[in-house]
Amino acid sequence: MKRATPAPSGTLSRRSFIKTGAAATTVFAFGAPFISRAWAAAGAKSPCANLVPATRKVRLAGIGIGGRGYTNLTGLAEAGAEIVALCDVHFERAARSFHEYPGAARYRDFRQMLDEMAGRIDAVFVSTPDHTHFPATLMAMERGLHIYVEKPLTHTIGEARVLKAAAKKTGVVTQMGNQGHANEGTRLVKEWIEAGVIGAVREIHSWTNRPGVPGERTVWPQGIPWPDPKARGAKPRPSTLDWNLWLNVAPAREYMPDIAPFKWRGFWDYGCGALGDMGCHIMDASYWALDLGGNCKVSADQEGGSAFCGPIASTITYEIPARGPLAPIKYVWYDGGRKPAAPKELGAGKLPQNGTLYFGDKGIMFSDSYSSSVKLLPESRMKEFTNRPARTIPRVPKSNQHLEWLAAIQGGPKSGSDIADYSAGLTEFVSLGNLALRIGKPIEWDAARGICTNAPEARILINKNYRVY
Ligand SMILES: NC(=O)c1ccc[n+]([C@@H]2O[C@H](COP(=O)([O-])OP(=O)(O)OC[C@H]3O[C@@H](n4cnc5c(N)ncnc54)[C@H](O)[C@@H]3O)[C@@H](O)[C@H]2O)c1
Repeated sequence: MKRATPAPSGTLSRRSFIKTGAAATTVFAFGAPFISRAWAAAGAKSPCANLVPATRKVRLAGIGIGGRGYTNLTGLAEAGAEIVALCDVHFERAARSFHEYPGAARYRDFRQMLDEMAGRIDAVFVSTPDHTHFPATLMAMERGLHIYVEKPLTHTIGEARVLKAAAKKTGVVTQMGNQGHANEGTRLVKEWIEAGVIGAVREIHSWTNRPGVPGERTVWPQGIPWPDPKARGAKPRPSTLDWNLWLNVAPAREYMPDIAPFKWRGFWDYGCGALGDMGCHIMDASYWALDLGGNCKVSADQEGGSAFCGPIASTITYEIPARGPLAPIKYVWYDGGRKPAAPKELGAGKLPQNGTLYFGDKGIMFSDSYSSSVKLLPESRMKEFTNRPARTIPRVPKSNQHLEWLAAIQGGPKSGSDIADYSAGLTEFVSLGNLALRIGKPIEWDAARGICTNAPEARILINKNYRVY
């Protein structure tokens, strides 16, 4: 295995985070496991709180409005939200959003925004890098604000568990931004599997071209040495970027363009690698259709990864035991250009760059990244497949997660990828692959206790440390 050079030492702070910011201060001072127990002890039951009457618009604030945040901002505005406040640590990167919503209050620090806008916003979306999802989301929930947060829900499994408890406790309306969950195809996967169209599913293979396909395309780099700030002509920090706020709860480091924007995905301090980035999309339909949460064993084979950076490519195998009447499943994830063998039922066709194959006792099914296309293999079987199972799952208007979330805030049906009942579990399932990858040995996951029974050293990755910033 190719080894990358180590990251600067002494960068991890054992202290918690957030010097300012009222209510969050106390809970964070004790770290994620403490609040997890505290929320649970407080009793995890609450009706949906703070619903917005249909007579007015949902007043929305955005956190992280460059990159994906711009898509969420414009999508949510189009879906009917009133844009009231916008926050980004990098004003130049946020310029387009600021320009298009000139009436919105502007902030760099979400703690200040959430305090100052109290009573003037109903809901918040979070489209920051993965390591900041948790602090921003929890702080918004504590203030009774509805929350839309990008995938993966959190940076660690411990955080996902805390947000799940917090969502139950606060009763706010939540949605994770794995937009394919609102698709027709995601419902077809579940309905067809439940109707037995391909029989008992015993094996699933999902793959992605992220972080890149060696020799072809790099979406973002992984398996690289720690970037040397001087190696690229010491590009200065953009004057409108507050780097301390960008780092947020992550260890303090000097600014490097090799980290932000976008390329943070490959570094474990900020992102969740290829699996974390695409797993909540590509594994979503199978997780939902086959109830994959719970105990499992996970092992990983990888190339080029290190203690601070995700690998160039990996293959991760989940062994999932029987769940009630559902058969045990072997689930294999591939990234970095690795793929499963193409089944003969694919005929002359090639496997696309991302997708999932479901192998059942009675047939094979394929779905693409967001399950916008679902089909049985071979093609002849799909052509004959005219007597389709009943549509048992409600459809989402326009297959649009933004519309679904806003409607739920105004008393409509619950959003499909809500944190308490769905997306915290999906994120945990996906994150287990990274745990096996980073621990470097097969893990045995005890879901009830939230521990790896054979790898106590995983504790530090399940619940991380937070910097005071
Ligand atoms: N659902 C999807 O299809 C999809 C697509 C792309 C990205 N994403 C997710 O969206 C998130 C953002 O990804 P990206 O590609 O836009 O990253 P990015 O680095 O391109 O943009 C992040 C934005 O957040 C801002 N930001 C960073 N820290 C902040 C903070 N503490 N407070 C306020 N603003 C902050 C940055 O300045 C930037 O404008 C990630 O979690 C990613 O997984 C989802």
